[in-house]
Amino acid sequence: HKPTYKNANFPTDGEGRTYHLGTKEGEVAPRILSVGSVSRALLLSKLLDPPTPGRPLFQRTSSRGFLTITGRYDGEPVSIVSTHMGQPNMDFVVRENRAIVRGQMAIVRLGTCGAVQRPAKLGDLLIAAHGSIAIRRNPDYWTLMDGRESLLRASNSPTRNGTANGTTTTNGNSGAATYGGFSGPKPYMTSLPVPANPQLAALLAAEAAQVVGPDRVVEGLNASADSFYSSQGRTGSDFDDRNEGLLADLVAAHPDLVSLEMETFQLLDLARCSKGSIKAIGMCVALAERYSNAFLEYHKLEELEISGGNAALRALAHVSLDGPSEAEAETLK
Ligand code: URA
Repeated sequence: HKPTYKNANFPTDGEGRTYHLGTKEGEVAPRILSVGSVSRALLLSKLLDPPTPGRPLFQRTSSRGFLTITGRYDGEPVSIVSTHMGQPNMDFVVRENRAIVRGQMAIVRLGTCGAVQRPAKLGDLLIAAHGSIAIRRNPDYWTLMDGRESLLRASNSPTRNGTANGTTTTNGNSGAATYGGFSGPKPYMTSLPVPANPQLAALLAAEAAQVVGPDRVVEGLNASADSFYSSQGRTGSDFDDRNEGLLADLVAAHPDLVSLEMETFQLLDLARCSKGSIKAIGMCVALAERYSNAFLEYHKLEELEISGGNAALRALAHVSLDGPSEAEAETLK
């Protein structure tokens, strides 16, 4: 049976289920662990308090493949949601859950990421305690600048503005590059940082250090890119990406940058704009070491997902939240 949706502005079906996540009020807890895959959600659901015949785990997969599991951790109602990847999917998860949960919420993302620079290393848990910046590919660069750079370089050499030989740089936030006296868009744009919730960040860092040891936990800045490839500085010959200097530029501009992935910025940006109603933080397992090109062996990932999952669930269960009301708490019992 196919549901019908009302209200194109924020579609819900006749039961009040949201369009992409397919959940409704009473099915999701105010404390949410957002993970990148269905298999990780299922794996981490084994860490929840054991279900009893009177209180089974709630589990629902939406038509779009979002899995929500609601149970308890340390006696506190929590939900685990498979968010998949990228900023639009995180947008669905934050907005559609906000729409059906009453009271203040806490959302922790546990994902995987690239470790950008030391001290972050393969297999570490990297916490976005310093917030997150967005990195976006800027199509205007190709529309306006392609083929013009060399002309500008030739006519403006040597440069006056310190941009060595007129090469494009990606530092700064405006998305503009200067070639001698000329300026134009850069191939990649970076935003200013958005902050994480300091209370949740501190709780999570303490829990993570307990689980894996303090030398495996690094707090710093996250960067969320709009591609796993181009805007994360992965190079190849199939596309004209102009990203050879991207990682070096990011590191130079942000000495505290530790993790590079595709979701945390959206979570923190929406929490920032949630009128105080969402506390959020992101943590990820360093799956790739971008400075050495090492990639984590798959069998080590599961153990780290469980360690990170336990730390995240503990922080979620213990962070203080305003509300939910008695009525909301009742519906989740
Ligand atoms: N996820 C990402 O987005 N990038 C990585 O390098 C690893 C995981």
